[in-house]
Amino acid sequence: MPLDIQSIREQFPILKRKVNNQELVYLDNAASSQKPQIVLDKIDSYYKTINANVHRGIHTLSQEATEEMENTRSIVKEFINASKTEEIIFTKGTTDSINLVAYSIQELIQPDDEIIISHLEHHSNIVPWQILAERKKAKLKVIPIDKNGDLILDEYKKLLSEKTKILSVNHISNALGVVNPIKEIIDEAHKYNAYVLIDAAQSIPHTPINVQELDCDFLAFSGHKMYAPTGVGILYGKEHLLEKMIPYQAGGEMIKEVTFEKTTYQTLPFKFEAGTPNIEANIVLGTAIEFIKSIGSKNIEQHEQKILHYLTDELEKLDDIIIYAKNAKSRAGAVSFNFNLNGISSSDVGFILDKQGIAVRTGHHCTQPIMHYFGISGTVRASFGVYNSTEDIDKLIQGLKKAYQMLK
Ligand code: ALA
Repeated sequence: MPLDIQSIREQFPILKRKVNNQELVYLDNAASSQKPQIVLDKIDSYYKTINANVHRGIHTLSQEATEEMENTRSIVKEFINASKTEEIIFTKGTTDSINLVAYSIQELIQPDDEIIISHLEHHSNIVPWQILAERKKAKLKVIPIDKNGDLILDEYKKLLSEKTKILSVNHISNALGVVNPIKEIIDEAHKYNAYVLIDAAQSIPHTPINVQELDCDFLAFSGHKMYAPTGVGILYGKEHLLEKMIPYQAGGEMIKEVTFEKTTYQTLPFKFEAGTPNIEANIVLGTAIEFIKSIGSKNIEQHEQKILHYLTDELEKLDDIIIYAKNAKSRAGAVSFNFNLNGISSSDVGFILDKQGIAVRTGHHCTQPIMHYFGISGTVRASFGVYNSTEDIDKLIQGLKKAYQMLK
């Protein structure tokens, strides 16, 4: 059954607003998604009814806040099919989750060990590994891409060896919308006993994820791209690995006992959760997941695939358009393109679209190596959420026709 997009749209108050006197067409979901009423209500009711610090107080509010936050941990565990709540760590977002692993795993990395990433990564899945490699005198290796934007898997296999300690790749590229064959990638890395981190920031809003089936060692994602507030993210990690890793940050919450001579740490997951967490956002992430579950990740995936193919077909009818990764083996979440016009940048196009109420992201999308590969400074990127309709795409295409007339 196709989704009733109109009734889903009704649940997102912001979609009713006007931008530059035009109805908002929001196609910047890879940067951040909009929030449904149920999420907004939960934020409101949290502060109106249970606001208090967690894991500390004997009083009722603190206990209720703790219960709700731990309930979200269970919801996340179920949602990604982790085996234990101890494996679910609250972070600030995907960047924070990746930095946590890149820092806390340092004792397991020796000089000359190798770390593999891919050419498709967001800067947040490049720079933390560069810092780790420098600190530990390890080597960073990069899986190359081909002109379709696909990872070259034969080259990947050649990079793997007994020296490979950790591999970190995204599931779906934020800049191009290329879907990587992560199961195959994970299985290959495990032949060499390498640990695998999957950056799921751009996949978890769009497709079902099952960490036990994937057998990834770590999975990182953000709440704000999946209809939850900003400032909450998740790191999933296999318990036996998290046990071996050193704390990321130190302070309250993550300790068992502190003396001036020695400190002992809390058990998982609290060992990695120093300081007062973002209680409201952590709780509300659970509500956002319930929202996704009420529609179904598989249904969202199917709907967004329709939108993606509709957009690709309509873009192809335009003059002087270049669509990046159009022929990639699998795509989801976003389409990146440019006008093939001299001296015109992606932000020129984005500016004209904004005047028509259409929100897209332009520029390098925090993926400069991808832009260097294609010899460009940026792209126009339209990225999808469950509320996007073919009417949104029609408006984008009309907007692009106008931009082309003005810029050519
Ligand atoms: N990583 C986010 C994006 O791709 C911010 O827009």
